[in-house]
Amino acid sequence: MSILSRDTALLPPKIQKWVNDTAALCQPDNIHICDGSQSEYDTLCALLVKEGIFHQLDSVKRPNSFLARSSQEDVARVEARTFICSKTRDQAGPTNNWMDPEEMRKILMPLFKGSMHGRTMYVIPYSMGPLNSPYAKIGIEITDSPYVVCNMRIMTRIGQEVLNKLGDGEFVPGVHSVGAPLEPGQKDSHWPCNPHHVYITHFPETREIWSYGSGYGGNALLGKKCFALRIASVQARDEGWLAEHMLICAITNPAGEKKYIAAAFPSACGKTNLAMMNPTLPGWKIETVGDDIAWIGYGPDHRLRAINPETGFFGVCPGTSLKSNPNAMKAIHSNSIFTNVALTDDGDVWWEGMTDKPPAHAISWTNQEWTPNSPEKAAHPNSRFTTPISQCPIVDPAWVDPHGVPLSAIIFGGRRSTAVPLVCESFSWQHGTFLGTSISSEMTAAAEGQVGKLRHDPFAMLPFCGYHMGDYFAHWLSFARKKDLGKLPKIYTVNWFQKGADGKFLWPGFGENSRVLKWIFERTSGVQNGVETPIGILPAPGALDVSGLDLSPDSIKELLRVDVEAWKKEAAELREYYKIFGDRLPAGIKDELQQLEARLDKTS
Ligand code: OXD
Ligand code: MN
Repeated sequence: MSILSRDTALLPPKIQKWVNDTAALCQPDNIHICDGSQSEYDTLCALLVKEGIFHQLDSVKRPNSFLARSSQEDVARVEARTFICSKTRDQAGPTNNWMDPEEMRKILMPLFKGSMHGRTMYVIPYSMGPLNSPYAKIGIEITDSPYVVCNMRIMTRIGQEVLNKLGDGEFVPGVHSVGAPLEPGQKDSHWPCNPHHVYITHFPETREIWSYGSGYGGNALLGKKCFALRIASVQARDEGWLAEHMLICAITNPAGEKKYIAAAFPSACGKTNLAMMNPTLPGWKIETVGDDIAWIGYGPDHRLRAINPETGFFGVCPGTSLKSNPNAMKAIHSNSIFTNVALTDDGDVWWEGMTDKPPAHAISWTNQEWTPNSPEKAAHPNSRFTTPISQCPIVDPAWVDPHGVPLSAIIFGGRRSTAVPLVCESFSWQHGTFLGTSISSEMTAAAEGQVGKLRHDPFAMLPFCGYHMGDYFAHWLSFARKKDLGKLPKIYTVNWFQKGADGKFLWPGFGENSRVLKWIFERTSGVQNGVETPIGILPAPGALDVSGLDLSPDSIKELLRVDVEAWKKEAAELREYYKIFGDRLPAGIKDELQQLEARLDKTS
């Protein structure tokens, strides 16, 4: 292929050495240094089509877009195979899989040796964050997957301009191999991977990433979870900022006043929908800055400011529709990559929940004939679109602001059928941090595990925090610097997923969530429309704008009820959970739990 093999000698010496050393280890047939150009992208897409990895979608219905079908054994992030290889187990903490760095290297080196036989090694220089941002950081991913290169070009800023900025400076090195070397004459599979030897490994001290055996999502697009969350959370701890699993969006009220919020939810709990919501409340507007990751630091104005380090959405397809998220549907109209969705007879994509009426016939994500009567799903529950943020019709102009956007509120949420009310404001930064530690959620298909089972997911960072979670709590607490206290965002919890006795959702969700955001907006402006409860401040009776909603007064009451007995159980359960942090649980968090218990006792 003509684009291959820009000379490694043109690279700055430090990068050149690393690339050459990696090539000597992995022994690829070719090396290609990505320039990030459109022609490079087009050439790679054409190559992927030729190799049967990409299927080009209809050029009118879905211009410049492709469908990929992964191996059925490589469909999600694999938390059980994700490791934090800090010097000691204690540094990784109780929530991470730990392995001694030297032991892990002993496992990895033989696996990587010769792993790229018969393949091209792509070198992707990338920037997380606008190149001119003081918050941006540079990584270089080496991969033997052209699918990864194409996705990385949508998800991050890649190519020559990154190398120009980097010079001989610091970068986070990441080596990724699908772990499927090809012997001469061996036919490649449509989705090479090595599901029995998956290792997604992070070396926090040396800021390195090594990923082997999977070509899917966060396992392989190393800028996303591996760098922008796991490694970045360690950098953030050391440098005094926060790397968070949060969407960022702007809210503008009918008077034209604009505020920014960030919100953390576990995977596949509606971050993308919230980030791109069309409010149902007249005159209110949402604009999108990001849907998955926020890097947050103090600005010169002593306010917490957030950038989105990514340039694309890697969103869950099933359930995404013109009803649930019209802006996402518009964003994915073109220039997008779809993974593990169904192919319709007219060359378009389809997934469960995309339309009320399914197509009469399609080819499923497993490449089988599919009809609505088929017992299997047409699309995998964790099927994804990769699409440029710039195509989102409601993208906020400040999404590329190098200085980030000032945050007025931070929201934590989870998928909880019971107990957790629709919205709740914390009493203070410390109490808000405590609320972050207490997040738990019913599991989804975004990660391996039993769907529906409740698991603790503090700050929605359980799979993404690169160090001891107890220290991470302490890092959050440390932001309550006296001189900045009045400028910190207010902290909230929300829960869109409460169910009534009939098992149906009590709250309509989606655009109606703007009603909750309105209350939060008002609170951050100092409006006194809350009531203190043992768990935090809830909307005072009548303060939540439910005008025009077909919701019974009983349902509203239920949505905003603090069930003291249920909360006593929550508190007891949290106390039990906290034991895993031992003496690394910060005093501030212990105090908050004690105070919650005392308030609950006083109420009953
Ligand atoms: C994601 C995830 O892909 O959180 O964003 O799993
Ligand atoms: Mn995520």
